[in-house]
Amino acid sequence: MEKESKNKIPHCLVIPYPTQGHINPMLQFSKRLLQKGIQITLVNTISNSKTITTINLNKSFQFETISDGFDDGGLTAAENINTYIDTFRRTGSQTLDQLLHKLTTTDNPVDCVIHDAFLPWIVDVAKKFQLPVAVFLTQACSVNTINFHAFKRWLDLPLLETEIVLPGLPKLEASDFPSFLYQYGTHPGYFGLLTNQFSMIDQADWVLANTSYELEPEVVEWLMKIWPLKTIGPCVPSMFLDKRLKDDNEYGGSIFTTNSESCIKWLDTKPKGSVVYVSFGSRASLGEDQIHELACGLKNCRRYFIWIVRDSEKGKLPKDFSELSEKGLIVRWCQQLEVLQHEAVGCFVTHCGWNSTLEALSLGVPVIAIPIWTDQITNAKFVVDVWKIGVRGVADEKGIVRSETIEGCVKEMMETEKGNEMKKNAMKWKSVARNCVDESGSSDENIAEFVNELTRRRK
Ligand code: UDX
Repeated sequence: MEKESKNKIPHCLVIPYPTQGHINPMLQFSKRLLQKGIQITLVNTISNSKTITTINLNKSFQFETISDGFDDGGLTAAENINTYIDTFRRTGSQTLDQLLHKLTTTDNPVDCVIHDAFLPWIVDVAKKFQLPVAVFLTQACSVNTINFHAFKRWLDLPLLETEIVLPGLPKLEASDFPSFLYQYGTHPGYFGLLTNQFSMIDQADWVLANTSYELEPEVVEWLMKIWPLKTIGPCVPSMFLDKRLKDDNEYGGSIFTTNSESCIKWLDTKPKGSVVYVSFGSRASLGEDQIHELACGLKNCRRYFIWIVRDSEKGKLPKDFSELSEKGLIVRWCQQLEVLQHEAVGCFVTHCGWNSTLEALSLGVPVIAIPIWTDQITNAKFVVDVWKIGVRGVADEKGIVRSETIEGCVKEMMETEKGNEMKKNAMKWKSVARNCVDESGSSDENIAEFVNELTRRRK
């Protein structure tokens, strides 16, 4: 860490969209910046700050709050996504303005605002304080490119072609596109949220993407021609990727410590590579039919499993649940990274949220992809056909992945030569991911450049 006087340390205000899939990568990126000598203030919404435990990592890492207008309940208290986004823009602008006023009078005022692309209005507030802005893209660059084309209206919507070629991307079928485009019109609020990410991007001083050059080289190169893009991922906790930090509690820790249940003791008793880990992330909601098929598939596999079933999904489990749990552990939440890096885990049944995808890649765990909606569909395509670390659980004409399919995928992964190949590929990507964020890796260099630019501007 730099040993310069305090007023020479650049100070970044980091503002994620207030859901787990967005806070996690921005928190990890913040920890990387902290490690490189940057002071961080991470901003939560008031509603989130009531439900999560914030650990003060370091005196140069502080937490502050702004209001999304729903101080009790956040997004779940809003009538719909449009109301939430509109209210957040209005109330968030006012409360961020107040926060920036407060921070300008401290002995180390803010030098740069790093904001989630889902909150483009932050640019207006930051520019009022003449602050440079870095927009943080939480999703894959492939997905960003597709959404950017939709924003620019360079794509005909609804999609008319069955096969579509976009710059930097392999030929995609329309059904590989994010659900809000492929099923255009079904979720206009979310479509707006995803395309509006790019409404202020021309004013960004930096565009930071939670991916690495090595994962998506062609599309990253294309985007670098139009944006001041720096790939800085995978934003998976540095303590897992960089052994030197493992014992350094200063950079460890999470702000989501509540409600997670330890699975490690249970995993410790299981043979290497024997456990199927099943999780659909923090938001996806599965239909009761799908949960029953999954339960049946897991039971018929006769393999150990850990299944994350959030409280909101618990009521959908079949009644003979206790019989099921004989070979399995069903918990409402776990420390996913601890589980994924445990040697007993053999494969990961996932919805392919971008964080889960990056975590599987970074920890060398092969995947059974069952995407639900949004970017997960496109991520699944890359998992199977580009990085070749997984197999797709294909849905039937009713959109349900049947128990036989799930059982077949698990067997293929755990018992066949093809499964072995995927495991080998996963291990290859693990080392690629590690190299990207390790010293002098592509993402590490980009982060260092970003830090140098901030430091130069400060002097
Ligand atoms: C959402 C979207 O669904 C996703 O597609 C988008 O790319 C980011 O925002 P989410 O559905 O929650 O995220 O999925 P994902 O991106 O995979 O993030 C889930 C996070 O929760 C991961 O970091 C994962 O490690 C963590 N998690 C999940 C836990 O820590 N414990 C669990 O039990 C389950």
